[in-house]
Amino acid sequence: MSSHLAALPEVSQRLCKLPAFWPVAARIWEGLDARAGRPEITPLISLDAAITAEILVAANSPVYGFSSSIYNVHEALTILEWDHVKRLLHAAVGGRLETDVRTEPLIQASWTHSLATAFFASELAPFFGIPEDRAYMLGLMHDIGRLGMLATYPGPYLDVAARTYRTSLECLGSEECVLGMSHCKAGLWLARVWGLPAEFSESAAAHHAMVIDSHWPAATLAGMACRLAHAGGFVFEHCKPVSTEEAISIAPPELLRRLRPRLGEIEARGRSRLLKSMNGFCPLDPLLSRN
Ligand SMILES: [Fe+2]
Ligand SMILES: [Fe+2]
Repeated sequence: MSSHLAALPEVSQRLCKLPAFWPVAARIWEGLDARAGRPEITPLISLDAAITAEILVAANSPVYGFSSSIYNVHEALTILEWDHVKRLLHAAVGGRLETDVRTEPLIQASWTHSLATAFFASELAPFFGIPEDRAYMLGLMHDIGRLGMLATYPGPYLDVAARTYRTSLECLGSEECVLGMSHCKAGLWLARVWGLPAEFSESAAAHHAMVIDSHWPAATLAGMACRLAHAGGFVFEHCKPVSTEEAISIAPPELLRRLRPRLGEIEARGRSRLLKSMNGFCPLDPLLSRN
């Protein structure tokens, strides 16, 4: 297939319409129906990258004068009118309650992986000097490009996801071969088009980079959290399993020295918060029996 990057304007609407994980969308829909308020709805939005994206895009719009400076759902909901938020949510979740049986398992795998990455990123945040809530969002949104590609090219992406790879980088290569772009490039494009803060495009674009760049802490944080999610078994692509030690091994020596003694705690706390948040949205038994 020829490069789709050149054709992005034609497919951009579908690429921008990220698929939400339907149990979360359904819970928000029920909440709106029951006239639930911000305190009940906010934590639900923050569980799903697709629904979070709708809110962050609106809040970072130049219309509100906070262009490219709103990093999380809580901040967004303090500047957006609640009626506007409800309209956005109705539009965002209403069209996503119908599931596609072909892609639903991948959307669930992506949801689990992104949520795991969010919690591990928030646990790693102090080591990078990044606020925990911001780190959570960078982790949650790091694979938005994959969701966009899944919505835009479901058939070819199913083929890509069905293969087994030695590493995530091999999977990126397969995306490039089959679709003409990787999910990192798609994520970079989305974050820029949406006017999100630069850290979102940075982490979406470079979270699979194997070289730590001190100028890109957001990408390093998201990348390390993504690898910890893989190590914990919260995977999207089928790759050779990695240990938590391998997951952090790309960190520079000084960071490794500080991280190693806390690694068990980071892994346990991130996993515990993840399972608590997933409870009620999907079966936990396979995850609980893994460790
Ligand atoms: Fe990724
Ligand atoms: Fe990832």
